[in-house]
Amino acid sequence: MTDTPGSCPPDGAVPEATAEIDARWHPETRAIRAGRRFSRDSLAPVLFPATTYEVGSVEDHRRMAGEPRSTHYYSRFGSPTVHEFEQAVAELEGAEAALASASGMAAITGVVLGLCSAGDHVVAQRQVFSVTSALFTYHLPRFGIEVTFVDGTDPQQFADAVRPGRTQLVFAETPANPALALTDIEAIAAIPGPFTVIDSTFATPVLQQPLALGADLVVHAATKGLAGHNDALLGVVAGSRDLIDAIWAWHVVQGGQASPFDAWNGLRGIRTLSARVRQQCETALAVAEHLERHPAVARVSYPGLDSHPQRDLAKRQMAAGGTIVAVELAGGLAAATTFCESTRVARMALSLGGPETLVVHPASTVGRQLTPAERAELGISDGLVRISVGLEHVDDLIADLDQALARAEAAGAG
Ligand SMILES: Cc1ncc(COP(=O)(O)O)c(C=O)c1O
Repeated sequence: MTDTPGSCPPDGAVPEATAEIDARWHPETRAIRAGRRFSRDSLAPVLFPATTYEVGSVEDHRRMAGEPRSTHYYSRFGSPTVHEFEQAVAELEGAEAALASASGMAAITGVVLGLCSAGDHVVAQRQVFSVTSALFTYHLPRFGIEVTFVDGTDPQQFADAVRPGRTQLVFAETPANPALALTDIEAIAAIPGPFTVIDSTFATPVLQQPLALGADLVVHAATKGLAGHNDALLGVVAGSRDLIDAIWAWHVVQGGQASPFDAWNGLRGIRTLSARVRQQCETALAVAEHLERHPAVARVSYPGLDSHPQRDLAKRQMAAGGTIVAVELAGGLAAATTFCESTRVARMALSLGGPETLVVHPASTVGRQLTPAERAELGISDGLVRISVGLEHVDDLIADLDQALARAEAAGAG
């Protein structure tokens, strides 16, 4: 292996990580260099768009075809840029290995279908992203995998639902869509038997380290804060090498490989992750405090506020309150509709974690197919608005939210 930028190892072997990364460095420092194996002396990661690579011998063919996550063989198996993104995430999550995929949902389905078979049982919390919920509610039963739903805020419910010898996975999302309920990662990871999987998308590795708290796997919709620029559809799972290899064996069949371009954008995002997330958290806290005092607001849910019902847990497992604020407007549906349609700095769009502040009305998106009882259980009231706080100046953002709230107040009263 030479250090020429973009050079491929002649035998397809993955070179050792650059020696310069020191485990004692802070995540900010590691994030700037993490993952570089194939673009070592190029300061920007090198993009390898190739779908296939020449192999030197029939023996190499035989070896690489059977090797998990070969990087220079055929890109459904793995590829250099995707591998660099995976290594960077593994570095930041303190994991042995990681596997990137075509979206957050490809990562989640890859974990579940890679590790569960017909007859297995999964315990999942009710408060999860709506499409994850659809996977558990409608699709897993088609494959003979049974799911028990529990309240994610109560670790005892997870423990009680586990069926010894049958429960393969315990799945939690924290902070959770859309009302920011938290799950005690350490408590559910201590339940003996099943693998614990944490969707840590809302937190990113900067704010929360599920593996250090005992979880077996951490998944991210890297589409969100990790890649962070609304220009990559990307997922990733990190954990032990054995578990990641087992998931890869299904992933290569499912064909859920991440595109090199999206992984390259993900690597770009990781290099500024810490600075972005810390700034977004600072602004989100200011927004949450401001909204909490506003007369048009009935309730604010933000893990960084003392009023959050799980504030102590937030302090224990998160480095800050996060980049998302959930706000319930006093004027209900009319007020929430007017508010979402009136912001100018904040934009109305799905997704979260990018530089632009985004607002969504969960009752009209994820909540539209739920019964009133299901919506109430998930905290999706008609007046709820989810705000993903971006990188705009805090004063511009608060002024914008105030003018939208003034219109919302009039609409709610009318
Ligand atoms: C917590 C969480 N997990 C998973 C996903 C799915 O991600 P993707 O849209 O990249 O499939 C999302 C999407 O919003 C999410 O918010």
